[in-house]
Amino acid sequence: MNKKITVLGIESSCDETAASIIQEENGKVKILSNIISSQFDVHKEFGGVVPELAARAHVEKIDLITEKAISESKININQIDAIAATAGPGLIVCLTVGLNFGKTIAASLNKPFIAVNHLEGHAISPKFNSELNFPYLLLLISGGHTQYLLVEGLGNYKRLGTTIDDALGEAFDKTAKIIGIEFPGGPKIEKYAERGNKERFKLPKPILNRGGCNLSFAGLKTAILRMQPKIKNQKDRFDLAASFQKTIEEILVEKTKVAFQMYLNENNYFNKTFVVAGGVAANKGIKSRLTKLSADNKFECLFPDLSLCGDNAAMIALVGLEKFKNKTFNELNFNVNPRWQLDEKAEFLKGAGVKIES
Ligand code: KG4
Ligand code: ZN
Repeated sequence: MNKKITVLGIESSCDETAASIIQEENGKVKILSNIISSQFDVHKEFGGVVPELAARAHVEKIDLITEKAISESKININQIDAIAATAGPGLIVCLTVGLNFGKTIAASLNKPFIAVNHLEGHAISPKFNSELNFPYLLLLISGGHTQYLLVEGLGNYKRLGTTIDDALGEAFDKTAKIIGIEFPGGPKIEKYAERGNKERFKLPKPILNRGGCNLSFAGLKTAILRMQPKIKNQKDRFDLAASFQKTIEEILVEKTKVAFQMYLNENNYFNKTFVVAGGVAANKGIKSRLTKLSADNKFECLFPDLSLCGDNAAMIALVGLEKFKNKTFNELNFNVNPRWQLDEKAEFLKGAGVKIES
C-alpha cells in the first residue's frame, strides 16, 4: 500500500500570512487547503509594507489561518508528517513569526521541521500543474527579487543574471504609485495598460545590449518620475501604463534570449525547460510574450497556476514535501535568514556604481 505524505506549510515572509496542507499519494500531489490572508488594508495608507505592522498582523492571524488550513483540508492533525516554514529571505520580524510558529507545531506534534527558502517555493511552484524536471532555466520575478538561474536540483542553483537595482515587482509598484494607483499597484498596471496607447511614451531600456542577462529598472522609474507633470487625466495614466508594460515586455524578451543562450552553454543535458515564477509571473502580457519566445526557441515554458504566482504556503509545503522525501530536516534552533539567496556563491551585484561588462 502506498503511504500518503502530508505536509503543513507556513509562510509569513512579507505581507501575506498563509498556511496550506498538501498531500502526495501515488506520486501525485494535491493541495488540500491553501489559506492566504493579505494585509492590503494594513499598509494601504502608508503606500508600502511597514514591517512592524506586518509582523503584528502575522501574530494576530497565524494560528487562525493555520487552524483554517487544517480544518479545510479535512485531515486529522496527527496525519501531518512534517511542518515546513519559510526561514528567508524576507522581513526579519515577519519571518520570525511563521518560523517560530512552525517550530512550535513540529515540537508539539513531534514531527520533523523543515526550514524553507521562500524563493525555492516560487522556483518549484509550477510542479503543482506541470511535470517539472531538473535542470531548467528559471526567471524569478517577484517584489523583492529578479533573477535568471540555472536550477540543477533542489538547493542547487547557479545565478546567471540579476537586477542590479530594483526588482521587477518593485518597478511595477513604484510606477503605479507615480501614476497615482493605490498600493499595491503592480497588478493594476496591466489593467490600465489594456486601455492605453503603448507607443505614446518612450521609456529607456537600461543595459539592454550589455551586461549579459543582468537587468536594471531604476532608470525607468526616474524617466517616469520626470514624465509625472504630463500625467493629467485618466487617458495619460492608461498611456503611461501601456508604455511601461510594453517596455518591460521588450526588456524581458531580449534578456531572456541572452539567458537561453547562457543556459544552453552551461547545461550539458539540453533539457530546454524555462520556468517563470514569482508574483509578476501573473502578468498576462509578460506570460504571452515569454511563452511565444520560448516556442520560437523550442523551450518548453512553464508558469505556476495563476493562483500560485503570488506568495502562498502551498509552495512552501511543496519544498517541504520534497525535502521530507530526501530526509532533509532541520533542527529547531534553525534561525531566520532574511538575506538567504538561492545561489549563495553569487557575488553581490547592486547599485548604480556597478560596472557591467559587455
Ligand atoms: O512573489 P510576490 O507575491 O511577493 C514577493 O515575494 O515579493 O510578488 C509580489 C509582486 C508585487 O510587486 C506585485 O505588484 C507584483 O508581484 N505583481 C504584479 C502582478 N501581480 C503581482 N506585477 C505585474 N503584473 C501583475 N499582474
Ligand atoms: Zn514571493
